[in-house]
Amino acid sequence: MENLYQFQTYQDGPEMAIAATTYFVETCAAVIAEKNKCSVCLSGGSTPKRMFKLLATDAWKDKVDWSKLFIFWGDERSVPQNSPDSNSGEAMRLLFDQVPIPKEHIFAINGSLDPIAAAEDYETTLETFFGDHEPVFDLCFLGMGDDGHTASLFPYTEILYEDEYWVKEVFVEKLDTTRISLTPEIINQAARIVFLIGGKNKADVLKEVLTGDFNPEKLPSQLIIRSGADVTFFLDAEAAGALELN
Ligand code: 6PG
Repeated sequence: MENLYQFQTYQDGPEMAIAATTYFVETCAAVIAEKNKCSVCLSGGSTPKRMFKLLATDAWKDKVDWSKLFIFWGDERSVPQNSPDSNSGEAMRLLFDQVPIPKEHIFAINGSLDPIAAAEDYETTLETFFGDHEPVFDLCFLGMGDDGHTASLFPYTEILYEDEYWVKEVFVEKLDTTRISLTPEIINQAARIVFLIGGKNKADVLKEVLTGDFNPEKLPSQLIIRSGADVTFFLDAEAAGALELN
């Protein structure tokens, strides 16, 4: 199945963040113009934080109609929101506490709950927002770990094969922790999938995910990137270092 990839490569993280912020602003505006609302699913980790910080600045925050945005997360750690490890907590502190988005438009995964309960709770949240059809995010941001995981779709975990639920808990042996994540199927439903990937340590795994054998158990990002969905990559030069992009 052929994928349509858009590669946008930038000199460094700050430049990539400006490009990703521009894309965020422009895409949300276009979707709002069409639908009068826009659902955005965010990734966690460190890479998107520069974009969050930029979106909160005076130069950018007035370019978004926050009253029309609805915010979700692709995954969460089993920690309370006040933890520095909380994906939604960090996004609240860096961005959403700084902009006029209605708090009822923000749908965080509740990392304070038992992971099974948190997954069930988030599934109900998605059902309530999207109705009884599968969630279709207008825009879904993802990162990629140096082991080829994305969201909390980690290698050799059962969630990779989940096709009944939209959200599941996933025990990550190497981290000795349980996370909560959207399943591959739900991520792939998104209208726009955007990977933000930076750093030298991602270069080899990105090349393997894109051009290596299809082995999603080992490289779960392939479940998204080699699914036939259109995927846009925002890369810094280090992360793109092993690719032969013309
Ligand atoms: C998380 C993320 C995860 C992240 C990658 C890349 O909860 O950590 O959702 O999938 O996107 O691990 O993380 P960095 O951006 O920190 O490299």
